[in-house]
Amino acid sequence: MGDNDKKGLLIVFEGTDGTGKSTQLQLLYNILHDKGYPVIATREPTDGKYGRKIRELYINRKNYSHEEELELFLADRREHVDKLLNPALKRGEIILCDRYFLSTAAYQGAIGFDPETILSRNSFAPDPDLALLFQTPVNVGITRIISDRGDTLNDFEQNESLEKVAEIFSGIDRPYIKTIDATGSIESVHQAVMGHIATLFANSSFLPLN
Ligand code: TYD
Repeated sequence: MGDNDKKGLLIVFEGTDGTGKSTQLQLLYNILHDKGYPVIATREPTDGKYGRKIRELYINRKNYSHEEELELFLADRREHVDKLLNPALKRGEIILCDRYFLSTAAYQGAIGFDPETILSRNSFAPDPDLALLFQTPVNVGITRIISDRGDTLNDFEQNESLEKVAEIFSGIDRPYIKTIDATGSIESVHQAVMGHIATLFANSSFLPLN
């Protein structure tokens, strides 16, 4: 699908675990929905067949080779793009997606793949119109996962590998990436998100946010 057929907007939420991106996605979704924009929320890994397989991998990543791991994320994304993302963009919807191919570049990059090679293996997937990259020191994210969420760390959330993931995220240079300092309060981070959304809408066919 060329850019010319595309009427919707693809907004992705990226960052290491515990940066609060899912909370921010939900807040933005509620606002856009209440204002009557045609918005949908989705996530990767998806709840489809590959996504479910990926969730098994969270528990014991060692059962899969690195190439198998990467291929599962790519297969999940291919299905997501074909079944949901491209059709929704064609219908002119605004998609909020929790994680997308920058996560593959960063997380599977952290296990040894070249991040740019990963990005080129994602060329089937439409580029986002905006990628919000939520950044906190890795230990802040881990503390949020353990204490606030009352959760334990899965295989993707170990400290050393997350440092590497964060470093790769910061090193990716694409015009649609906007970094957000996510160490502050939910409200202050939300204001930063709204600033980027207002700019994006002002340059799109959607009604300006106010
Ligand atoms: P996460 O958004 O934390 O999902 P959940 O809320 O279901 O735990 O994503 C799960 C993990 O998957 C996260 O640690 C990052 C990892 N991941 C990859 O390694 N590669 C990818 O391409 C994607 C989309 C996610």
